[in-house]
Amino acid sequence: MAISTKFTEVFGVEHPIAQGGMQWVGRAELVAAVANAGGLGFITALTQPTPADLAGEIAKTRDLTDKPFGVNLTILPSINPPPYDEYRKVIVDAGIKIVETAGSNPGPHLPMFHDAGIKVLHKCTSMRHAVKAQSLGVDGISIDGFECAGHPGEDDVPGLVLIPAAAKEIEIPMIASGGFGDARGLVAALALGADGINMGTRFMCTVESCIHQNVKEAIVATDERGTELIFRSLRNTARVASNAVSREVVEILKGGGQFEDVKDLVAGVRGRKVFENGDVDAGIWTAGTVMGLIHDIPTCDELISRIVGEAEDIITGRLAGMVGAGEAELASV
Ligand SMILES: Cc1cc2nc3c(=O)[nH]c(=O)nc-3n(C[C@H](O)[C@H](O)[C@H](O)COP(=O)(O)O)c2cc1C
Repeated sequence: MAISTKFTEVFGVEHPIAQGGMQWVGRAELVAAVANAGGLGFITALTQPTPADLAGEIAKTRDLTDKPFGVNLTILPSINPPPYDEYRKVIVDAGIKIVETAGSNPGPHLPMFHDAGIKVLHKCTSMRHAVKAQSLGVDGISIDGFECAGHPGEDDVPGLVLIPAAAKEIEIPMIASGGFGDARGLVAALALGADGINMGTRFMCTVESCIHQNVKEAIVATDERGTELIFRSLRNTARVASNAVSREVVEILKGGGQFEDVKDLVAGVRGRKVFENGDVDAGIWTAGTVMGLIHDIPTCDELISRIVGEAEDIITGRLAGMVGAGEAELASV
């Protein structure tokens, strides 16, 4: 059995489950494992230090899978922006067929991607950005609710409202993101009007994710309250794991501090060390509230099979049974 949706049809994957871009995490082994399990994995372009390294990572992924996978291109405001044009050219030249854009307006990238036959899945955190992206001609929307790891935007609307609100306006395939980790979430997303789910934190905590085992174990041990929202006052909110460093950043900014005052605490190089060395207090690392639903470290194949299999059971068993029970009760009155 399988769950077919507009998303699986348009993006050519078996299951309506995506693994969104993740800085330092979205590498060949994870992306290929997701692809081999029938999901849609994205290599994170900017995790690769140079465009040439991205070409190498794409080649490495192809050695590990012959199933479709994509590349995430995150475009955020930055003082020293990476050479986005060169990363984009590598994506096109490598023959990638699916790109996840995030962080800003996908408009400037669409002509080049569409000319190359690339489908664009745009990830955003608000209705207005989803509607705008649809009008610009993207091929799919990934909508991130307030629960999500990373940048939830500034509107603070959780998925329970954001997903059905967006589903009303979005006609192209739309997947729900933020807080998804199991079959119940997938069924809920479908019920709310989405065509599938995108997961970050849940895929971080799998066998094939290349981060240190200590971080995976920390995710399993943490509950749904284990995150902090940093950079609120700077209007660049990020949801990260709660630790000594993120709590200090929150305090400094609450007290009127500016980016300069926390710059060293939030340095990317410190966060990267968390994933490499397994010291979960070494810096800032991204994770979402869904940690409260993560209790194990499965392979991607086990995870995706479990989510799809249990989702089918919920739909055909528990939910169908409720409808049937209602009818039976009515018939007996
Ligand atoms: C460690 C980590 C790094 C992330 N880095 C990026 C990124 O570079 N670009 C991006 O578009 N999203 C990034 N995200 C967000 C995910 O793609 C996804 O939207 C989010 O994790 C969904 O929420 P969830 O963690 O509750 O599943 C990151 C998430 C995590 C957990």
